[in-house]
Amino acid sequence: MLIDTHAHLDSPKFDDDREETIRRAREAGIDIIVNIGFNRETIPTTMELAERYPFIYAAVGWHPTDAEDMRLEEDLAWIERLCAHPKVVAIGEIGLDYHWDTPREIQHTVFREQIRLARRLGKPIVIHNRDAHEDVVRLLREQKAEEVGGIMHCFSGSWETAKLCLDMNFDISFGGPVTFKNARVPKEVLARVPDDRLLIETDCPYLAPHPHRGKRNEPAYVALVAQEAAEIRGISIQDLADLTSANARKRLAIP
Ligand code: NI
Repeated sequence: MLIDTHAHLDSPKFDDDREETIRRAREAGIDIIVNIGFNRETIPTTMELAERYPFIYAAVGWHPTDAEDMRLEEDLAWIERLCAHPKVVAIGEIGLDYHWDTPREIQHTVFREQIRLARRLGKPIVIHNRDAHEDVVRLLREQKAEEVGGIMHCFSGSWETAKLCLDMNFDISFGGPVTFKNARVPKEVLARVPDDRLLIETDCPYLAPHPHRGKRNEPAYVALVAQEAAEIRGISIQDLADLTSANARKRLAIP
């Protein structure tokens, strides 16, 4: 059994066949999916999925590229209320994204405030980091994020960055890109992450693994990430499934 720790099944890309997609995931041995609600539109749709399906859990938070839309006090209070819901297992995805042009100061404020909220509530955080490794690590450290820890989602950094994150109580999660032939660094990092700190995910509908690269991704494909990870680490897919599932349950307090 596998756990997809990062999915966006509420995306309109699944509007035509969401039920089918979820059924395929179950048939592929995915026993838990964590869906991520990251802005005003996707937080409610994520909560609907989590309330409808016993095996879908939710993370809710404000994405850095939507930072300008956040009404800070009001939306922090909204996220706080949702964190009391039994299916909400983390705050996220939050972080920094320097690929797009959302003003950095606003991103920093929104990121900082959500780390503070997570510490106050004792919830782990799911980190989105695009082209912002240094500042992500700096803000996590500044805000004492190691108190709650969490998940570095779809990790793409160096081993040096991974080590800093591991030391701050963050697990390292890999998605489809680690299956690409030219993904030398991610494969090297995946090989070195300790057994008890490794997670897998899809980030569907984005970032489909080989051989579906460029097409729509879905939770069933987390099995392809698991297969690649097992090969890189020289262990059986069963062992890889067991350890990543145990890690996800522990990190997200899923029974
Ligand atoms: Ni995501």
